[in-house]
Parts: sequence; C-alpha cells; structure tokens
Amino acid sequence: LSIGLSAQVIYGLGEHLGPFAKPLNQWKRFVLWNRDAEPNPDRNLYGSHNFLLAVGGGGRAFGIFLLNSNAQESHRDLPNYRGILDFFVFVGPTPKDVIQQYHELLGPPMMPPLWSLGYHLCRFGFGTLDRLKFIYERNVKINIPIDVMWSDADYMDGFKDWTVGAEKYSGFDTFIKQVYSQHRSVVVIVDPGIKNNSTGYLAYDLGLKMDIWMRTADNKSYIVGAVWPGDVLWPDFTHPNATLYWQRSSNEFLLKYPVDGLWIDMNEPSSFYQGSDTGCPNGNPLDFPPYVPHIIGYNILYQGTVCPSARQYLGSHYDLHNLYSYFEAKATWQVLRTRPDGQKDNRQRQFVLSRSTFPGIQRFAFHWTGDNNADWYNLRYSLSTILSFNLYGIVNTGTDVCGFNSATTEELCIRWTQLGAFYPFMRNHNSLGLPDQDPAAFSPIAQQIMRYHISLRYAFLPYMYTEFYRATANGSTVARSLMEEFPNDEETWLIDNQFMFGPALMICPVTVEGAVDRQVYFPPSARWFDVHAQYFAEVTPKGLQTVPAPLENIPLYIRGGHVIPMQDPGNDTYHQKLLQPFLLIVAPDADGLASGSLFWDRNGVDDLSLGNYQLMEFSASKGSLSSRLVHQFPIGVQMQLFGLQVLGVATKPANVIVNEWQEEAVYVQQRLALRQQPGGGGPQESAKGQLELTDISARVFKSASWQ
Ligand code: NOJ
Repeated sequence: LSIGLSAQVIYGLGEHLGPFAKPLNQWKRFVLWNRDAEPNPDRNLYGSHNFLLAVGGGGRAFGIFLLNSNAQESHRDLPNYRGILDFFVFVGPTPKDVIQQYHELLGPPMMPPLWSLGYHLCRFGFGTLDRLKFIYERNVKINIPIDVMWSDADYMDGFKDWTVGAEKYSGFDTFIKQVYSQHRSVVVIVDPGIKNNSTGYLAYDLGLKMDIWMRTADNKSYIVGAVWPGDVLWPDFTHPNATLYWQRSSNEFLLKYPVDGLWIDMNEPSSFYQGSDTGCPNGNPLDFPPYVPHIIGYNILYQGTVCPSARQYLGSHYDLHNLYSYFEAKATWQVLRTRPDGQKDNRQRQFVLSRSTFPGIQRFAFHWTGDNNADWYNLRYSLSTILSFNLYGIVNTGTDVCGFNSATTEELCIRWTQLGAFYPFMRNHNSLGLPDQDPAAFSPIAQQIMRYHISLRYAFLPYMYTEFYRATANGSTVARSLMEEFPNDEETWLIDNQFMFGPALMICPVTVEGAVDRQVYFPPSARWFDVHAQYFAEVTPKGLQTVPAPLENIPLYIRGGHVIPMQDPGNDTYHQKLLQPFLLIVAPDADGLASGSLFWDRNGVDDLSLGNYQLMEFSASKGSLSSRLVHQFPIGVQMQLFGLQVLGVATKPANVIVNEWQEEAVYVQQRLALRQQPGGGGPQESAKGQLELTDISARVFKSASWQ
C-alpha cells in the first residue's frame, strides 16, 4: 500500500538512530523488527513503532499508526507499507492533538515513582559486591545526588535469573537493606532466557513442570537459544500461566533481596544462536518468507533471535516476535505488584525498565535505549531517540549517560551528564572491561560540574514530576521537540539538538567536542529567560543566536508564560521531599501572564487511583499571582512555600503583599541563581530586574501581588 502525504515533514517510524525529523523529499527505507543491535544509523533496533506524525503548512498535523507486529518496512517519500494493514489515523489538527489522540489509543504511561526520577548509577562488570559498594560509597561521599544503585548480571550465580553468586555477592541482602535505610533504591537485571538442562534450579524445574517454554515449529521439543548462561529455554510470556510461572520462580529471590525495581534486558529476544541451537531447518515459510524486509543481518529474520516458526501459546513467533518484550514487561510488572515481601502491594507504582519495546508497553515499563557508543554522534542523536519515544508514548526514556560501549572521555561524560540531567530517565551505565565513568572517577572539576548539573535536575524535580503527572493524566509528552510547542514556526521543524522539557524549560546541550558556544534558536513568539548567564535575565535578541556554552554549563532557558515549581536540591529525593520547601519561579509572557501547576504526593509511590496527592494550579496576571487547589490530599500534608521569584519585573515594586500581609521583598538585578556555579558564566548586568521573596512561610499559599 502506498500513500501520498500532504505534509512536509514526518516524525516517528522507529526505533532508529538519527535525525528526529524526516523531510519527505528524499527516499528512505525504515525497517522494523526488534533486534539486539548497537544503535547505528539505518539499522532496525530494539523496538518497533510504526507511528508517524506528519506536519505541513501552518503547523497542521495528522498521524498514522499501523498496528502490526510482523517484520515490516516503510519507505519515506511515498510511505509504502507491506504486510497486514490495520491502520489508525489521527486527525489532529495540531501536533499536540495528534500525540494526545495516539496516546489515548495506547493507554496512559505509568506514573514513575518519585525516587526513579533521581540519578541512577550502574555498570556491567562491577564483578563483586565489594566493588559495587565502593563505587556507590565514593559517590555518596563526594555528595553526588544519587537515588538508585544498580546491579547488572554480575550479581547472578552463573548468569541464572533469580540467583545470587554465593561468594562474589555474599551480603547482597544486607547491602540492599543498608541502601534502603538511607532511603535509596536498588534495581537488578533479569534476562528472559533460562539456563537449559539445569535440574535443581527452580526457574528451570518449574518451567518444565508448567510446560511454559516456547516450542519448535513441529511442536516436538522446546526451542533452544543461547545467552549469557549458555544454552537457554525461553518462557512464552503469552502463555496464560506465564505470570504465575514468573511469580513462583522469583518469589524466594524477592523475599531475600527486596529490590525496588527490575530491569528486563535481552528481550527482543536476543540469542547468540541464529534461530536455535540447530538453526531454523526444514525451509519453514515463516523462517524464509517470500519477502524479507531489509533488516540487518543479511535479511535473515532469525539472525540473533529465535526462529519465527517457533510456537507460542498465542500463535507463531513470526507474529509475536515484536511483542515478546510487551508480554514479558506485563508479567514482570505483575510480579512486582504482587510480590511476597509485603514491601509493595498493588496500590503502588512499579519500576520495570525494558530494552525492547512495542506500542502499549508504557503501561508496564520504562525504557532505555540499549548499547550506545561513548561518542559525540551518539550523544547528539540520543536526543532524537528520546523525543521519538515520547511520541510513541514511552515518555520515561533515557540513554546510557556517558556512553555504554568504548571508553568515554572526561569532556564527553561532562557534556552527557549535563544533557542527561534533563533526560526523563537518567542513568550512567557502561560495559564490561571499560574504565569507570561514575562521577567520582573524574577530576575534581569534572565532579563539581556533574554534581551541579545533577543538582539542577533535583532542583527542577517538582516541575518534572508534574510533567510526568500530566503525561499520565492527559497523554502528553514529557521531553518534546520545539516543533510540538511552536508548530506554526517552520524554523522549529527540523530542530533536534535543543528540546523542551514540558512546555516551559528549553535545554540546549553541547554535543560537539571542544565547543564553548553553540547556536540556539529562540522562537520569537515567546519570552526566554536565561537560567545561567545572569539571574534569569531575559534573552534579547531572539531567533538564531550564538550563546556561550563553557564546559561548566548547559545552556538552559525558561519560557515566559509559565510558573515553575522548584525545590532546593537534596542528595536524594527522599530527604529533598521531606525537608526542602518549595520555590516558585514566575516567568511572565509579553502580556504579563503566566500559569503552571504542581503535582506532589506524600511518599512518591502511591497509585494515582488512591488520590493521595495534591494538585495546585498557579496563575499570574500583571502584578499578582494566585494559587488554586485542584486536588487535595485526603489527609493534610503541609507543603511550605519558601520563595517566590518573579522574572522580568521592569521597575522596583513599591510594595509586595503575600496572603494579605505586607512582605519584605528583594529586588535583584545581579545575582546568581540556585547554587554557586563552578567557575565561568559569572553574573552580568541585568537589563530587567527580578523580584525575590524568601522565607515567606506561606503554609497555604493563596496569593501574592506587587505594585
Ligand atoms: C545488554 C544490555 O544492553 C546492557 O545494558 C547490559 O549491560 C548487558 N546486556 C549485560 O547484562
């Protein structure tokens, strides 16, 4: 089927590495077939999302989603589809409308637990628990804000799921409890392949007993793959007993090692065999279909995975391959929801991170983008991938900060940490045998810059958390392109090296080695306030500008028209939540108007359906700000507002009133924001002033005005 599109640019059709926007005037082929492959341009990668967002004149938009789980390819120029044709068309008319309509079809993404929005530290190859502890402690010691410590497959006994290596990881249970006592979290990896011929190993014995494995085409035996433990059998997660199997095999482990989340990897599924231990014999047409999309691996469908002819409960692997991770994520989410340790129950949000994806998985899992390389290209285009996954509804996505494969450099890791601080999901991770890349591994200056940027993330957490709430409640993106916010402005359509977090924060990372400035496009229809260069001073002139971007800072701007809730950053989300009162930044638009909201809850993990949260809306018009409680905690929880900053106030106000009381206000023209910056980017003379109120102790903040 070929379709002519009345549009100029399209977005989507992933997972692929490369530019976010795809102009329609050149021919290009997009191939989808879930595959364990290091991200490089023009490859089919870990996930399949045949959704496109098309934008044309005046910013009018529509979307097309092909619901098809087979291997497939689309050709850009005239999108050209082959296979089972089951289309959904979204009529917009704006890009935001299209996205919302598509997300409504998919179902809402999970609301992440608050702790999971903090900084995550991981690597493959800690080797021993002692080493993992050492890395964790050395970063805590130098005050790197950190919420989650991860263990890759190192912790397992012989790479077997739900086991712990007796010697190298002895005391892992005590360590997990110690991390919990510090109000931080631990996440571990599990792979789907279960070691074959391992009698006496629960996950294997139980699988045999429950007859849960994927079978060969002739139904005579189980299909055998190979992953880290050697030969493996694959649980068929479409089987009605699969969740029960997954629960029973993990119960004992979770009781002893009460980890906070599970990381599901290698779930394309990835196999070191081509098809199986005996290949895919007998010329089955599902293994050798008449037309094979141009996938990597010599166009052989079973390269690096299971034979498409393998049998699963719901059908052939040919039809279910791209859905393997979807069903695994659902079962894993269920395991955490009904875990036996009493720590979690089905009224809490869960944390599952999946490498492979398919539309709809965002109801059960978050996502990271696999084995990127530690190079500037991968840093640069990590942004397109994250923007694309936001279109696909998997809003909580991140890439391995500082790069997974090959050795990173200090400069690259600094720049990646700066950008990663504004990824929806932020985890530093790298591979076996490579030098350490946790912040403490670098020079004191690098540590300082990384600490500052991770702290910036924590400072913006109330705003970010609120954006996640909005995505869950309204089907919006979290990280989004400028095109989505300014669809009428054609200059924004191709921009993918700067982006928005929510509607109000614009992030412009440096992705070029050695660069100390960069070009930034400031859409002229908005006012922009610079977070770094001086105390949130307004940016003029607008349009395409070169801005300074010394190694110390990521260029970062607040858009006029918004109220941004912030907190003083802590060293972890738990203490920050408890101890740090709120600060509101009011950035008025050209008419002096601004609005915003704040979602906040007591423990950061309750299911939204319990209603244990507070939702406030703020609105400012010339000279006054008021707040409205839209949803209130069932039991009173005090939220303290400590500071209020109004940007772009032209003249010093004569008086300021907060909740009917006259307040002392500070009118600032020259001061640094947030925390002292490490060198560079010092204060300059401000054109416009800013009104700052601190310690206003407004328990229930109703209104403020300044004249
Ligand atoms: C592949 C994953 O993509 C990577 O993140 C992980 O470290 C290795 N598997 C080892 O488990």
